[in-house]
Amino acid sequence: MSGPVDLKADVAEILVSEEAIQERVRELGQRISDDYRGRNLTLVSVLKGSLPFMADLMRAIDVPVRIDLMEVSSYGGTATESSGLVRILKDLSASIADEDVLLVEDIIDTGLTLNYLIRYLRGKNPASLRICTLLDKPARRLVDIPVDYTGFTIEDRFVVGYGLDYGELYRNLRFVGVLRPEVYSGGG
Ligand code: PRP
Repeated sequence: MSGPVDLKADVAEILVSEEAIQERVRELGQRISDDYRGRNLTLVSVLKGSLPFMADLMRAIDVPVRIDLMEVSSYGGTATESSGLVRILKDLSASIADEDVLLVEDIIDTGLTLNYLIRYLRGKNPASLRICTLLDKPARRLVDIPVDYTGFTIEDRFVVGYGLDYGELYRNLRFVGVLRPEVYSGGG
């Protein structure tokens, strides 16, 4: 990028407001708490995009939880297209055997990342495995993913904010939005 980045000025449109996100996270946290009462819940989140969602969601859950973090790289090709390649950059730090695992993602796009992760985590023998995603973009799905908890279903647009990046920036926006076209043509 050439000049300094002006985070908010680069946003063309807000798709999901900060208030809408917070309200939905509260609802999801309540549902998850009801569903997992009396069980051994471990939240596994996938860095880096899921960081804000995970941080808010875990505090909206009122049953005991353990947390673990993985980091995978799925966008080998370009900044806006998934390559289908999944590489584990950071693995689980503890066993999930016999744990009720809830995988927390920021967005499901092609589904290739989650498809890989689901098979990987099932191989660790959890008692159960469910999926929670803040955003779902079904128009781009290449593999079928059973999603148990969805924050928002969105149209096929490249989104940033609340964890989601373009060129590693914009993750700290409090809402989910779309960038102005000039931002993408300027390189990322
Ligand atoms: C994003 C997102 C998902 C994946 C979804 O991660 O967090 O893990 O892409 O895309 P898919 O359904 O097409 O596989 P990304 O690789 O951009 O890493 P990041 O979370 O560090 O930004």
